[in-house]
Amino acid sequence: MLQQALRVSRGSPLLRWMEGLSERATRGALGLEHMPGPSALSFAWDLFGRRGLSRLHELQLEGARQYGPMWKASFGPILTVHVADPGLIEEVLRQEGLHPMRSDLSSWKDYRQLRGHHCGLLTSEGQEWQTVRSLLGKHMLRPKAVEAYDQTLNNVVTDLIQKLRFSRHPQSGLVPDIAQEFYRFGLEGISSVLFESRIGCLDPVVPEETERFIQSINTMFVMTLLTMAMPRWLHQVFPKPWRLFCQSWDYMFHFAKGHIDQRMAAEAEKVSRGEKVEGRYLTYFLSQTGLPMKTVYSNVTELLLAGVDTISSTLSWSLYELSRHPEVQTQLRDEVTRVMGDRRIPEAADVSQMSLLKATVKEVLRLYPVIPGNARVITERDIQVGGYIIPKKTLITLCHFATSRDPAVFPSPDSFLPRRWLNREQGHHAYASVPFGVGKRSCIGRRIAELELHLAIARILLEFEVKPDPEGGSVKPMTRTLLVPDSNINLRFIQR
Ligand code: HEM
Repeated sequence: MLQQALRVSRGSPLLRWMEGLSERATRGALGLEHMPGPSALSFAWDLFGRRGLSRLHELQLEGARQYGPMWKASFGPILTVHVADPGLIEEVLRQEGLHPMRSDLSSWKDYRQLRGHHCGLLTSEGQEWQTVRSLLGKHMLRPKAVEAYDQTLNNVVTDLIQKLRFSRHPQSGLVPDIAQEFYRFGLEGISSVLFESRIGCLDPVVPEETERFIQSINTMFVMTLLTMAMPRWLHQVFPKPWRLFCQSWDYMFHFAKGHIDQRMAAEAEKVSRGEKVEGRYLTYFLSQTGLPMKTVYSNVTELLLAGVDTISSTLSWSLYELSRHPEVQTQLRDEVTRVMGDRRIPEAADVSQMSLLKATVKEVLRLYPVIPGNARVITERDIQVGGYIIPKKTLITLCHFATSRDPAVFPSPDSFLPRRWLNREQGHHAYASVPFGVGKRSCIGRRIAELELHLAIARILLEFEVKPDPEGGSVKPMTRTLLVPDSNINLRFIQR
């Protein structure tokens, strides 16, 4: 209600009255001084003494156990409120305002400012964000627009299958470190959607620039947490993390710009020959909007980045869990063959009939949410959550890992049970597992990601029986900004 009023009558007497109402409602709520949480020293010890930066997801569980569903933690001048309850996360997100902001202390933004780059969708704010979100939303959020990418993505899946056949050990079928293969698959997939052309990530010999791009993403993610945890003055004393962080971004921008320029030059040549140019790829749509080229470059860089680790990690965990649960794998394969009949290449319309497949990806993302903790900063006003007043501009961490592993919400929370998503009676809070976020600022790539994952898993199961490495142990998640496997996942792909 208040948000609607803000939209229609900013500064009006009605708005002032409603603000007064909300202020009166906050009376009786507690200030942050009453909120429990670790001392600054013990939080710093957790982060640096107990390898907390790579265990941020576990710190969520520990925090919730120790302090309850809301706690605060300070590091230097930065105060963070952690929220680890689905109902309270909903309360935060319902008050996020017109132009939600994830975090205002991002080193990602500092880098762009330093180099004079524009911000893309991941990093921009306010009206700048809204403009690009609306433009891209037309091509990325509408189901029909996304379904049209199934052929493009299927070509990439075909190459992935070939690559798996080529990479696996001839006798045992073992493919070591499958995440490596899936990084390349993720990059090739998002590139084909962005450029409508292939960049050779799944070729037998991978172009060096592709490997360097993937390596740059990895380094950038590792350095993100470190540079954000270090106060700025420390960057002078220990310059290496910030330097590596900037070098990684430099290469990522360079890589994206190279591909965009190449694609645009090819189009310009066609036009000069009098041919009709009719692109159906995202870079083309973006370049036709009249946005400055710097904005196109930054958006494409960020979309490329967003499509690699997210897909690779989710696909790796999916096959890891399916290899350890052969009964689920058999049921899933049966579902795929039932829908497909004699056909071998599922399309978007087929996937819509595969409910266990969709439930499997949901369950994987509940257990291993790629973004284990998201954030919001509400800049316009103080908000009230769970009986506390959270002052405006406070960094609020949404502890999605903790809620999606909460036994009170999901019985047997650490078990892989895709069928829990098919049983409507086992309904759980809608904000308990939200791997793509919720609302205006949620993942714009969700539909593309889901389609890509569904097409890939369905086809892998049609081609192979996936088995664990008899010598491999269990793999745990770790935080590297994103949630990723803490060691190599090796799997056997047995040709059917
Ligand atoms: C399993 C795959 C993926 C997961 C779990 C995922 C998850 C997320 C989450 C949690 C957010 C933040 C939402 C929020 O703050 O409320 C996000 C944002 C975003 N994602 Fe994804 N993502 C995935 C794949 C992708 C792909 C493939 C793309 C590109 C095609 C993409 C592009 C983006 C972009 C551009 C944003 C920023 C949106 C904005 O700020 O308006 N994501 N994603």
